Amino acid sequence: MAKIVCVLYDDPEEGYPRDYARAGIPKIDHYPGGQTTPTPENIDFTPGELLGSVSGELGLRKFLEDQGHELVVTSDKEPPDSVLDKELANGAEIVISQPFWPAYLTAERIEKAPNLKLAITAGIGSDHYDLDAAIKKGMTVAEITYSNSISVSEHVVMMILALVRNYLHSYQFVVAGGWNIADCVQRAYDLEGMHVGTVAAGRIGLAVLKRLKPFDVNLHYTERHRLPDSVEKELNLTYHPSVEDMVPVCDVVTINAPLHPETENMFNDELIGKMKRGAYLINTARAKICDRDAVVRALQSGQLAGYAGDVWYPQPPPKSHPWRTMPNHGMTPHTSGSTLSAQARYAAGTREILECWFAGKPIRDEYLIVEGGKLAGAGAHSYSARQDGSRA
Ligand SMILES: NC(=O)c1ccc[n+]([C@@H]2O[C@H](COP(=O)([O-])OP(=O)(O)OC[C@H]3O[C@@H](n4cnc5c(N)ncnc54)[C@H](O)[C@@H]3O)[C@@H](O)[C@H]2O)c1
Repeated sequence: MAKIVCVLYDDPEEGYPRDYARAGIPKIDHYPGGQTTPTPENIDFTPGELLGSVSGELGLRKFLEDQGHELVVTSDKEPPDSVLDKELANGAEIVISQPFWPAYLTAERIEKAPNLKLAITAGIGSDHYDLDAAIKKGMTVAEITYSNSISVSEHVVMMILALVRNYLHSYQFVVAGGWNIADCVQRAYDLEGMHVGTVAAGRIGLAVLKRLKPFDVNLHYTERHRLPDSVEKELNLTYHPSVEDMVPVCDVVTINAPLHPETENMFNDELIGKMKRGAYLINTARAKICDRDAVVRALQSGQLAGYAGDVWYPQPPPKSHPWRTMPNHGMTPHTSGSTLSAQARYAAGTREILECWFAGKPIRDEYLIVEGGKLAGAGAHSYSARQDGSRA
């Protein structure tokens, strides 16, 4: 029987909710392009409930305990003496965590976990697991591909509009009792006519491009895997062979690539310096794709007119993190992919992966990041790793 450690964010400060703002969530069974939403044999939760916090347990307890497995759920993850560290040393076979409250599985932690075989990301983006170390140990890493891609694309569009139209400053004047129209509009523009570019046009990036088309903007992208001609024509996209080629022409840049050796620290002083003065940068991908202090400097100098996103490093960030207080930012905690709608999908997907794992059946290829000592499935398509023989 297996021990499973599930690291989740804390319950709301006022306790686990007894009721919700809405009666339920829309039923979605396919993603764009036809991939089905998760298909576990059963679920033990009601879609629309809070599942990502400790008391929500991703709806997994009954399923796992009915089969005799041991489930430990905790938010305590900071090394070296956390519950996570203790359970890894005490024989945990499976770790589950969400990128919003990541269990950072470093090479050191993986080495100290004698029985660890499977790491699941309940969500998308498995960079909080050291993929090189996972490859070396022969572990499987899997995530719930597409489960929150559309959720994030909606957040990106919201943040672009919030920055360009100066929504957050204007809202604050209202709350403070004011009617300061000139103060609000002196930084407010229309998005119409602007040039908007995405770094990566995978599931999220393409969904952002599709959502922005009706705003009558000029759309640009750069990608490892160029989109089909028909999609470029339908959305009137300009393809750029490199990010350096794309950013000088864009008023708004949105980052939608995974964090891996190719993208780490991509937006440093040099690249931000190549952007148009007064451009907006939106990063809901991963914080470390941007140089933290270069972003602060660019906002202070006016090189960037705004920066928004929901990804930080580390998570949770300290109270002193400079992105909390830098000018003209629109940061949220890491929430875009953890709406109640998204939680229902990635909780079901986690269950689907566990059902396959315990039954010895293959995990869907599109969920795989690492398997059999190399990048696999979605991982081979979207990531690079130093240890991966297939990409040497
Ligand atoms: N903020 C959130 O809550 C949240 C939620 C989901 C995903 N994410 C992040 O967004 C990322 C993308 O998610 P997705 O669903 O679109 O994944 P995806 O695998 O569908 O798309 C990723 C795309 O990035 C491209 N890519 C990789 N390296 C690149 C590079 N150097 N330059 C240009 N393109 C590159 C890949 O070719 C791929 O098409 C995730 O890996 C994760 O880090 C964040």
